[in-house]
Amino acid sequence: MADALDAMATGRILSIIPGNTSGRTVKVNLVVAPNWYVFFKPRHRVHLFTRPQGEVGAFRLNRLLGMNHVPPAVVRTLDGSVIHSAFKRRGTPERLEQLQREVLSPATDDLTGALLLWVQGARNFEPSPALLGRMGDAGARLSPAEEVLIWDLSWMVILDHLTNNYDRHTGGNILRAKSGRLVFIDNGAAFGPDRDWKAARRKDLLRLLARHHPAFTAALRRLSPRVMAACAGDVLSARDLDEVLSRRDELVEHLAALERKCPTDCRIPRELEAP
Ligand SMILES: Nc1ncnc2c1ncn2[C@@H]1O[C@H](COP(=O)(O)OP(=O)(O)OP(=O)(O)O)[C@@H](O)[C@H]1O
Ligand SMILES: [Mg+2]
Repeated sequence: MADALDAMATGRILSIIPGNTSGRTVKVNLVVAPNWYVFFKPRHRVHLFTRPQGEVGAFRLNRLLGMNHVPPAVVRTLDGSVIHSAFKRRGTPERLEQLQREVLSPATDDLTGALLLWVQGARNFEPSPALLGRMGDAGARLSPAEEVLIWDLSWMVILDHLTNNYDRHTGGNILRAKSGRLVFIDNGAAFGPDRDWKAARRKDLLRLLARHHPAFTAALRRLSPRVMAACAGDVLSARDLDEVLSRRDELVEHLAALERKCPTDCRIPRELEAP
């Protein structure tokens, strides 16, 4: 992982392929020396959910808590004129136009975005309403495969709550790796100023967190202002860091209440390592 982070931060870019996924934003596939497949997500002036700091903050926080569900990410400034040329050669006219209108700046060639390691062989995964129903019902019987999914989805709810990411359930933002474990991509909406509607959505999603596990609570309790600052002080504001800690308290309270009310039957029956 350290090699990938170093390469993404400073490695030479060997090829630039305009992204061909559908969706609202311009993306770019890169190969970074010696041979890393990387996704570049530039900041869009018009879309608040494209903050590279959100991608990096979510990755760092997840690692800090001992989990491994978010692709390694860095913030990097690339040469916009080189990206522009690649889109002129190989992009669709629509994406070229969008790049010019929403991403590139007339004043500078600097183009800042998040670089994320590409997860090879993963597929998009949407939890079915039935699975989410069983997740929110601690009394529901789970198959062994569902136990693993519900571990990962529970951690997803926890991580999104901590990072205040409101953009998880809009489609295309969860991958399932070849191992069967889940990967949480697209964290560009995370952090930033809280809003009543974000708080309401975040609290509503706690209904899915119907099971507790000591590993979750222990990870959350390890967070302190000092470790948070060391982990992400270079990408998140002091206010972002403070707000993570108060949302952590909300989560610990939620999990502690579950544990008091339902110590055995509501415990996730599995012991899993980070994927
Ligand atoms: N690190 C990654 N590894 C593998 N596939 C990825 C990765 N990141 C993104 N993808 C694929 O690219 C798609 C779009 O990525 P992402 O969700 O991050 O962008 P987005 O901001 O939602 O863009 P848009 O709204 O334009 O779709 C994902 O649905 C997924 O299929
Ligand atoms: Mg997305």
